[in-house]
Amino acid sequence: MRRVMQTLMVLAVLGAVAGGAVVGFGLFNVSARVGHLPGVSWVLHTTFRNSVRLRASRRDDMPDLADPSLIELGARHYDAACRTCHGAPGETPSATIAAMVPAPPMIATAVADWQPHELHWIVSNGVKMSGMPHWPATRDDDVWPVVAFLVSVQDGMPGDDYAALTDLPAPRAPGDYCLGCHGQGGSDHVPPLEQQSAAYLEMSLRAYLDGTRSSGIMAHAVSEVPAETLGGLAQWFADRPAEGGVLPDMPAERIAEGRALAQAATGDRDVPACQACHGPDASETSELFPDLGRLPAPYLRTQLTLWRDGKRGGGPRADLMRKAAQHLSDSDIEALAAFYATLPPQDGK
Ligand code: HEC
Ligand code: HEC
Ligand code: HEC
Repeated sequence: MRRVMQTLMVLAVLGAVAGGAVVGFGLFNVSARVGHLPGVSWVLHTTFRNSVRLRASRRDDMPDLADPSLIELGARHYDAACRTCHGAPGETPSATIAAMVPAPPMIATAVADWQPHELHWIVSNGVKMSGMPHWPATRDDDVWPVVAFLVSVQDGMPGDDYAALTDLPAPRAPGDYCLGCHGQGGSDHVPPLEQQSAAYLEMSLRAYLDGTRSSGIMAHAVSEVPAETLGGLAQWFADRPAEGGVLPDMPAERIAEGRALAQAATGDRDVPACQACHGPDASETSELFPDLGRLPAPYLRTQLTLWRDGKRGGGPRADLMRKAAQHLSDSDIEALAAFYATLPPQDGK
C-alpha cells in the first residue's frame, strides 16, 4: 500500500513538473494554423452543445417571437454586432473569419439545431475559448429581439428581406446610424429621441456607456461612436422637431385608467402622481425628467417593469423614479403605458 502511495506521489510530481514546463517554457503550440490535435475539436464542440442543453431552461419571459418589430430590432443589432463573424443570410465567410479556430458557423448553420431558449442562453452567455462573446449587459431580457431574428433565419429569411430590414442610407450626419433604429416608423421597442432634452439624452448615453443603465443593444451602439461626440449627438437629436408618430390603437378604458393613475397619487399603494414630474403640466420640472408622450407602449411597459423590479439604472435622479414605480402592479403598468403612448409629446425641452 505504501509503495502504491509513493508511486502515485512521484507520478503527481512528474505530472506537475511536465505541466509547469509546458506553461513555463512555452512548449504548447498556440498557433491557430496548427489547429487542435485530432479529436479535440470534436470534444470541445460536443462539450459546448451538451453544456448549453444542460443549462438553458425554458423561460417564462419569452415574448411573441413573430412580432415584426422585435425581429427588425434584432436584425439591426445583429447587423452591427454579430454579422462580422456569422455573416448575413446567404453570405459566405471572409477568408479571415474562416481562418478562426474554431471558425464561427455562418448564420443559417449557427441557428439550425437550437430551440429559442437555447439560442437565448448562447447569446446571453457566449462560449468560452471560442471567440463567441457574451451579451455586453447584466440584463438579458433584451436578448429576445436577437432571438426573434435568429428564429426567422431558421424559418428561411432570404438575404433580400435581411437587406431590406437593415439597409441604412449612407450616413451624412453623425446621428444617421442611430436613426436606423430611432427613426420615424421604427420598432415599437425603441424610443423616439427628439422630444427629450439634450441633458437627458446625454446623461442616458453616458449611463449606457458605463453600464449604469443596462442594455446590450445600446451598450453596443454607444461604443460604436467616439465618447467625445456624445454631447453633440444628444444636442443633434434634441434640436430635431418631435413628430409624435402614429397614434396607436389602445382601448379607451385602459387609457382612462392610466390617466387617473398618472394624475393622482394612490395613497394605499404609495404610488405618486406621475404627472407631477412627467406632465402634462408638471409641478416639478427638471431637464432630467423625460417626456413620456407617445413613447411606444411596448417600450413603456418594458421600462416600467424594469423600474419596478429595480433593474433600470439611469442618472443622478434615477432613485426618484425607482421609488415611484416600486409598488406598480402589472395592470397599472398596462394602463400607464396605454395613457402615455396616446398622449402627444409636450416638446417642453
Ligand atoms: C468574434 C466573432 C463572433 C461574434 C462577434 C459573435 N460570434 Fe457567435 N460564435 C462565434 C464562434 C467562434 C462560435 C462557435 C462556438 C463553438 O462552436 O464552440 C459562435 C457560436 C454561435 C452560435 C452557436 C452556433 C453553433 O455552433 O451551434 C450562435 C447561435 C451564435 N454564435 C450567435 C451569435 C450572435 C447572435 C452574435 C451577436 C450578438 C454573435 N454570435 C457574435 C463567434 C462570434
Ligand atoms: C440596434 C438598434 C439601436 C441603435 C443602432 C441605436 N439605438 Fe438607442 N436604443 C435602442 C433601444 C432598443 C433602446 C432602449 C434600451 C433600453 O431598454 O434601455 C435605446 C435607447 C436609447 C436612449 C434612451 C432613450 C430614453 O428615452 O431613455 C438613447 C438616448 C439612445 N438610445 C440614443 C442612441 C444614439 C445616440 C444612437 C447612435 C449612436 C443609438 N441610440 C443607436 C436601439 C438602438
Ligand atoms: C419625483 C419625480 C418622478 C415621478 C413622481 C415619476 N417619475 Fe418617472 N422618471 C423620473 C426621472 C428622474 C426619470 C429618469 C431617470 C433616469 O433615467 O435617470 C424617469 C423616467 C421614467 C421613465 C423612462 C422613460 C424613458 O424614456 O426611458 C418612465 C417610463 C417613467 N419615468 C414613468 C413614470 C410613471 C408611469 C410614473 C408614475 C407612476 C412616474 N414615472 C413618476 C422622475 C419621476
